[in-house]
Amino acid sequence: PYPDLAPRPPMGWNNWSYYMCNVNEKVVLDNARALVRSGLARKGYRTVTVDDCWMGRQRGPKGELVPDRAKFPHGMAYLGEQLHRMGLRFGIYEDVGTLTCEKYPGSLGHFREDAALFARWKVDYVKADGCNVPVPQGHTKEQTYRDLYGQMSAALRATGRPITFSVSAPAYFQFDGDSVWHRVIGWSAELGNLWRGGRDVALQQSTPAAKWASIVYNFRYNANLAGLQRPGRWNDPDFLLAGDTGLTRDEMQSQMSLWAMMAAPLISSTDVGALSPAAREVLGNERIIAVDQDELGVQGDIVQQDGSSAVLTKPLKNGDRAIALFNSGDTPRTLSVTAGAAGLPDASAYHLHDLVTGHRRLSDGDIVAPDVPPHGTVLYRVTPE
Ligand code: DGJ
Repeated sequence: PYPDLAPRPPMGWNNWSYYMCNVNEKVVLDNARALVRSGLARKGYRTVTVDDCWMGRQRGPKGELVPDRAKFPHGMAYLGEQLHRMGLRFGIYEDVGTLTCEKYPGSLGHFREDAALFARWKVDYVKADGCNVPVPQGHTKEQTYRDLYGQMSAALRATGRPITFSVSAPAYFQFDGDSVWHRVIGWSAELGNLWRGGRDVALQQSTPAAKWASIVYNFRYNANLAGLQRPGRWNDPDFLLAGDTGLTRDEMQSQMSLWAMMAAPLISSTDVGALSPAAREVLGNERIIAVDQDELGVQGDIVQQDGSSAVLTKPLKNGDRAIALFNSGDTPRTLSVTAGAAGLPDASAYHLHDLVTGHRRLSDGDIVAPDVPPHGTVLYRVTPE
């Protein structure tokens, strides 16, 4: 939970939305190898996180967490060692309540020992969920969550091992009203390096339409949170679904582009070994990864929108601006924004670099994206002349 643990939005892979509880050593290591083989690890996707369901149903004789031996026959220290040998980082899931969402042992009452165990396993990243949190009499829900996440954060810190901390608290307050979840994000940002908001993106078995709807929902939700993040402390609108998931190429590309505009963590949840060439290109686009990971660390803002489109702008370290024109509607549309509205300084011309196609052109005024396909996003890097 120190800011310098995540100076840029974390990148990696997590099994949840694709495999859910069907996670095991082979799944994790196969995906890790595929990250390395495909070049995605070299491009930044390095934190490999095992989500819910890795544990046995009961703690061990000394109260310690134990892995499910059928799923992880060599244990978690071994898993971490294998990941580290591949140059990857090891992430693990727990919950601050009595039980995880899938009813495995939670950390409540065991924060110190669990954190120490994770440190012994050489864990680099902990995702702490917030299911099954009992609210003691006389306490508010918010006080309770704040206290428990505070205990987990302190316990991780006390290990002395640098462990990136992903806090799920805001996701448990999203229906409690704007002022509440803004406050919850405030203390989550003190306790952790990134925090989940919005809903879960749709799971692998969902319909393509449900997947797309979940991406748009989390985009709209997260876009409102610009300004609550800063380098080291990131809004997390959940996993990238690019992969064998029924999304169109334009949809995968839109999620990647919009997440990059929001400086969101880029955490893929898919079968990396089975990525289509298109999905691999979407996830591996280094021009777009560079927008996400830009050193300024600013979340892009929506500067213009209507019912079926949104334009975002994000300042970049070298003085360029990234500008995304998103057509959320079902028919092709030409989208445009004036240079001024997009936050660009006055200039005689603007160099537009289309970060998806790689094409470059010059504009003497408005930033125009002709015929953006349905559910598509055009992403320019713009340099004033
Ligand atoms: C809810 C979280 O939001 C998901 O990402 C996943 O961790 C599940 N819980 C696991 O139970």
